[in-house]
Amino acid sequence: MNVRDEHVLRELNLYPLWVRRGMPVQEEPVPAPLAIEVPEAIPEAKVEAAVAKAPPVAEIPDITSLPEVASLDWAALKEKVRACDACQLRATCTQTVFGVGDEQADWLFVGEGPGADEDAQGEPFVGQAGKLLDNMLFAIGLKRGDNVYIANIVKCRPPNNRNPEHDEIAACMPYLQQQIALIKPRLIVALGKVAATSLLGRDATLGSLRETVHDYHGTPLIITYHPAYLLRSPAEKAKAWRDLKSAVEIMR
Ligand code: URA
Repeated sequence: MNVRDEHVLRELNLYPLWVRRGMPVQEEPVPAPLAIEVPEAIPEAKVEAAVAKAPPVAEIPDITSLPEVASLDWAALKEKVRACDACQLRATCTQTVFGVGDEQADWLFVGEGPGADEDAQGEPFVGQAGKLLDNMLFAIGLKRGDNVYIANIVKCRPPNNRNPEHDEIAACMPYLQQQIALIKPRLIVALGKVAATSLLGRDATLGSLRETVHDYHGTPLIITYHPAYLLRSPAEKAKAWRDLKSAVEIMR
């Protein structure tokens, strides 16, 4: 194993993969990384039950409700976002954070919204959570900007990193919808509950949404933990790793 691989596995809390005799053994051994397994089939009943129980999360407008956004190319969309003041977030953020990466990527990762570092630099996931996201990408053979696009549900930083409100999500959603329409990703990975429930348009716990391949207007959508949550709860990194391996399997 090379130094970089070891670094990534340490970052994901999956290293060392072995223990010396006499040392305490991990209670729940984690499968060796990079040995991709076929994800277990999710019973249809689970999907249906989740849909039936879940209340709507917000009135998320369909992109057709903003036809002027649905017709925009990349340059015009970037300009539209830059000039946007459709919700209160623009008044307190430094700049809009549009998204970054390969505009024809197969993989689209969607976070919640910019934090302080992203607000300062104008690029998604450049702080500590971003470093972990880069390592997660590396662990599955991906790299920011190379067949990968990274975007957020809201393009402006919510003050004090609070969760975006429903009306803010609703105002910003057409931009992400048009990004998705232009990229045409083969897979969307929602990072965290806000991204997941905003894309699905219904409320549910993250735990109930994981390990299911959802459908986002014809594009497979999978859901995993937000890297910032993983930084606070490193024990969950093994589950995130399983989600990433399932994602790789879906892409095969
Ligand atoms: N968290 C997010 O959800 N997005 C970012 O861009 C950075 C942190």
